[in-house]
Order: sequence, then C-alpha cells, then structure tokens
Amino acid sequence: MTSEGKTLRYVQVGIGHRSLLYDDALGGPHRNAGVLCAMCDKNRGRMELRQKYMTEKYQYPEIKLYDGDDYETMIRTEKPDIVLVTAGPDVTHDDLIVKALELGCDVVTEKPMTIDPQRCQRIIDASKKTGKNVRVTFNYRYSPPRSQVKELLDAGLIGKVLSVDFEWALDTSHGADYFRRWHRKKENSGGLMVHKSTHHFDLMNWWLSEQPVAVEAMGRRSFYGADSGVAKDLGLDGHGERCLDCACKTKCPFYLDLSKSENLRTYYLENEKYDGYFRDKCVFSADMNIEDNMNVMVRYQSGTMLSYCLNAFLPWEGYRISFNGTKGRLEHGTVESTYIAGDGRVQGGTIAEETYIRHFPAFGAPVNLEVRTGTGGHGGGDSVMLADIFEAKTADPLKRAAGIGRFSNISHLG
Ligand SMILES: NC(=O)c1ccc[n+]([C@@H]2O[C@H](COP(=O)([O-])OP(=O)(O)OC[C@H]3O[C@@H](n4cnc5c(N)ncnc54)[C@H](O)[C@@H]3O)[C@@H](O)[C@H]2O)c1
Repeated sequence: MTSEGKTLRYVQVGIGHRSLLYDDALGGPHRNAGVLCAMCDKNRGRMELRQKYMTEKYQYPEIKLYDGDDYETMIRTEKPDIVLVTAGPDVTHDDLIVKALELGCDVVTEKPMTIDPQRCQRIIDASKKTGKNVRVTFNYRYSPPRSQVKELLDAGLIGKVLSVDFEWALDTSHGADYFRRWHRKKENSGGLMVHKSTHHFDLMNWWLSEQPVAVEAMGRRSFYGADSGVAKDLGLDGHGERCLDCACKTKCPFYLDLSKSENLRTYYLENEKYDGYFRDKCVFSADMNIEDNMNVMVRYQSGTMLSYCLNAFLPWEGYRISFNGTKGRLEHGTVESTYIAGDGRVQGGTIAEETYIRHFPAFGAPVNLEVRTGTGGHGGGDSVMLADIFEAKTADPLKRAAGIGRFSNISHLG
C-alpha cells in the first residue's frame, strides 16, 4: 500500500525455489502491502503447484498464470506497479527487467541483477530512460550481525579501515549444489564469482561505504568436474550424468535423491516433463565451466586493500572476516549449517553453529561483543529485508536497500 492508500499490484516471474520467500511474504506477514495478481514461468507445473499452495495456505485470491512466452502479455494485461523477478538462470534477468521497465513498472529483482557489465549497463540505461527503478534484494546486508558490523565500522570503532581479509566457505552440500544445475555454466550464472560472490562484494562495498578502483582475480576448478581426479579417488568411475539413474549412487557422497525432499520432488522431479530441468546433475560431469576456487585482491578509493577467497568444496559453510584499522581490528565470522537446496543431508553430521564479533583495540584487551541474532533464512536477513521491501515507510539509516537510484515514485520502498 502506498502512502496515498493505493493497493500496489505485483506480478512475479520465475516460480522456483527462491520465489517462495516473496509469496509467503505477500500471503502472510505482508499481506496488506499489496496484491500478487499473476505469475509467469516457463514451467506450468511449478506455477500450478504454487497457485494451489497460495490458495490452500493463505486462502489467497486467484493468482493468474502466464506461460513463459506470455511475460509481456502478463504485464500489459495485469498492469502491475512492481514486477518481482525471481527467475533463474541469472542470465534471464536483464531481458525480464528491461521489459518490465519499458512497460512502466518498477522492479524488485533477486541477486545478481545480471551476469556481466554489458547487461548491467543495459539495465541502468533502461532505468534512466524510463525513470523506473530496480531494487536488488541483497538480503545478506539485513542479517542482524552484519548490520551490527556496519554500525561498528561506521561508528569508527577501529578507526580508518586499512585492510580486510575475507574468506567464504561453501560446503559439499550447498556448495556442490551449484555444480548440479544451471549455475555450473558461466553463460547462465557468470560463475560463482558473480552468482555467489556478488553477495560478498556487495557486503564489502556497503560495509566500507566505498567503491573498488582496482581488482585482480584468479580462479580455477580444482574439485568438481571430470578432470579433477576426485571422482576417481572416490571410486566413482562409470558414474552417470545425473543421480536419478546413476550406477554409482550407493557409494557417492554427493548422491542427491530428489524424491526424498517434498520440495525437490514436487516442484522439480515431477515437473521435468515440461522443461527437462534436472536438479540432480552429476558434480563430476565434464559439462561445466565455472570455478570452485577463487581469489581476489581489491584496492578501494581510500586505499583500503581487500584479500578475498571463496572455496566451494569445504567441510563446513560460513565465513571469516577481519577488518584491520588504525585503532584496532574487528573480527567477525559465522559457522552455519546449510539449509538451501539439497535433500537436507548434512554429510558427516553437524558441527556447532556460532557467530562471533570480536574487537581487538590496538592497545587494549580484546572484547567478545554480544552478537545480535535473528531467525529464519540467511541469518535472519530474509525477514528483515522483506519488511523493508514491503512495509518500510522511513529511510533506513544503514542504507540497506540496494539498486539503481531510488524508488522515487513509490514512497514506501524508500
Ligand atoms: N538472495 C539469495 O540468497 C538467493 C538464494 C537463492 C536464489 N537466489 C536467486 O533467485 C533466482 C532464482 O533462483 P532459484 O534457485 O529459485 O532458481 P530455480 O531454477 O529453482 O527457479 C527458477 C525459475 O525460473 C523459471 N524461469 C527461467 N527462465 C524464465 C523465463 N524467461 N520466464 C519465466 N520463468 C523463467 C524456471 O522455470 C524456474 O521455475 C536466481 O536469480 C538466484 O540467483 C537468490
């Protein structure tokens, strides 16, 4: 609802795993924020499931369904204020966003906004030309501990930040999942340096309130794929191209049984007939071209240096970051169990989850700071972000909303 009392009309494109977050928001806690009029997806089966879900769970009024080719028709017919872009592969975003802008809508899109500079520029140009806005849902900014780190840095706790060491670990459950489906082709996702690291580079730029001026990067695939030697070490010679009918399923630690998870079975396995989208492709297939091991060095405007690495084949998932400043050091990190995709297995059992923020004054005793907590997806970030997207009426002092310009014509979107 706008400040003038108008009920906002939403439509959504891409009804896969991530899209549910927005539908649960509009059906549940943010029901009064607007109405979801229609959905569009290339896969009819997934849309019908979601339509049924919304009716049964929220008694939601009828959501109209449009097939993938009818995206433009949907916007022309439904005349939405805002298009929610939750489609994947990420390479689809620029066409979907630009079309929505050209047809007079604002856009809220999942990250990454797109996968390369040319497509990015195309979106920026379309936004400028149409005067319509694009908001990118960088949920990581909203998790309470990460917002806390931002406040501590902004308050000057460690003085001027001179250098940063940032390590991100993806595990053999969640990390492996990027090698099972569309993400594993650079032409779809831009590689993990775009698809995944976009969150981390966004966090860095936001934490420091700065832009990078020089970037050097290296990456390679050293674990997944056909030529790493890992499949052979695991005794998986003769593996197939997907788990469903693989001869090695009983001995493979990466075996994913789509039928074991209600979500994977109903949304994906049982709807393969529509689009041939296999969610369980082999992580040791030759048919992939993204890296699983990446290192980046960055210099920021003020001279701050960042050293960053991402590995996607580790025994635990989370991150460690150290900010080194003129008045001391701030260390922050999280060990989190994976909760996205996969069939819920945690290989090797669970490890203790912890989130810490430690302050080491330059000339004083170190302090373990009390960490703010949140609940729900992405360290509590998802729910805070949804409230900001759908309900915020005042400007956020932490400036967590990301995108191109401001939603000048929709006051509540700040
Ligand atoms: N912010 C986060 O933490 C987070 C987490 C997961 C995914 N994502 C992002 O969300 C998006 C969706 O990811 P996902 O895991 O749900 O993917 P998915 O593959 O599970 O679902 C994507 C859906 O988009 C549909 N689609 C593809 N092209 C289309 C088109 N041209 N028109 C209409 N529908 C189309 C597919 O049929 C599918 O149903 C991606 O951009 C991804 O990067 C973000």
